[in-house]
Amino acid sequence: MSQYKKTLRVGMVGSGFMGKCHANAFRAFGGLFDAPVNIELYKIADISDAHAQKSAHALGFARHTGDWQALVDDPLVDIVSITAPNALHEQIALRAIAQGKTVYCEKPLSITSASAHTMMLAAEQAKIANLVGFNFLRNPLISVCREMISSGELGEIISFKGRHAENYMIDAALPHSFRTDAQGGGAVADIGSHIVSLARYLLGDIREVTSRSRTVVASRPVALGSTEHAPVEVDDLAHALLQFSSGVVGSIDVNWMATGRSMDLSFEVTGTKGALAFSQERMNELRVWEAGKSAGFGGFKKIETGPDHAPYGNFCPAAGHHLGFNDLKIIEVSQLIETMLSGKPNFTDFREGYRVQCAIDAILRSATSGQWEAVEGI
Ligand SMILES: NC(=O)c1ccc[n+]([C@@H]2O[C@H](COP(=O)([O-])OP(=O)(O)OC[C@H]3O[C@@H](n4cnc5c(N)ncnc54)[C@H](O)[C@@H]3O)[C@@H](O)[C@H]2O)c1
Repeated sequence: MSQYKKTLRVGMVGSGFMGKCHANAFRAFGGLFDAPVNIELYKIADISDAHAQKSAHALGFARHTGDWQALVDDPLVDIVSITAPNALHEQIALRAIAQGKTVYCEKPLSITSASAHTMMLAAEQAKIANLVGFNFLRNPLISVCREMISSGELGEIISFKGRHAENYMIDAALPHSFRTDAQGGGAVADIGSHIVSLARYLLGDIREVTSRSRTVVASRPVALGSTEHAPVEVDDLAHALLQFSSGVVGSIDVNWMATGRSMDLSFEVTGTKGALAFSQERMNELRVWEAGKSAGFGGFKKIETGPDHAPYGNFCPAAGHHLGFNDLKIIEVSQLIETMLSGKPNFTDFREGYRVQCAIDAILRSATSGQWEAVEGI
């Protein structure tokens, strides 16, 4: 750690899947990017002191606490990293914003668009740096897609087909968690937020949606191994039609019980002169179809990640060696620090988190009403 650079201290709430991922990203960032600051894994909070102590030891934090309020109130914390369950995001963020701290919040920004709106307004009024963890957008190949679309290389974009399918909820013996909580759980909120954020990043505002959803597992144990069951009141899967403001029509399907699929966050964008196809399961490859190929030479061609796709070169000087999921989070942290130092908002700021949440809310409303629903907040 250089003694000549400013040190930014991270306080992290939560130490599960995403906690580990954030800690790794903050730790690795300085070695991979020409960081103008030092990052210190300063303090971690979890549900109890003992839990937090174990996590501090495992993840490399200097201090720990069983009280997240104490972490947020610690004057030495510069960045509050929120990797706790969705229903806690608002209270943690608002407390951190009130103290002028940078807030790095996992997706979805909150459990409803109204809550996300409160967070967005508070962050904007306080002018604090803020970012939502839509890490899949950090893949340099997704920037290539965005450039190809906006430059007109694909002609007029006429269709979007997106999907986020995983299989982590297939076991009916899995107990209730924040993911199945009626207050903000369900596949649409959990993983649907990723495909909605991708759709918006590539093609802009979604104006209207209609959807159908299904709850496949009717009840789940209240705790691991318990014989007591409680009903599941959220969706396991959903299909939605999307009307973008640009005129593009599209669809997404979301499914956390997709047998055979471990990480199919995928999309196909169709333009009048070309098409793109991508799946996170092969995140280092983009399929591109371009018009004008002579007979017998048609079909999608594969583009592979390499140092020409910034910031791939920060990780590896040779093409084809591949980035991984955790690398996307390191890139995200580099963007968080850039936002913090420059004052320039990142695309996935709280305003964007709110807009994604508005699309999620509209999809959920439509699944109940059976009607087309307008997306608010755009
Ligand atoms: N960006 C992504 O790719 C991605 C992937 C998975 C999860 N997420 C998001 O990250 C967040 C956490 O998900 P996860 O999979 O890491 O969950 P997890 O269950 O693995 O971890 C949650 C952590 O929060 C802690 N926690 C719960 N209540 C707390 C409290 N009152 N005070 C302090 N700590 C508390 C838990 O003990 C646990 O350590 C969610 O918002 C989720 O949607 C994002």
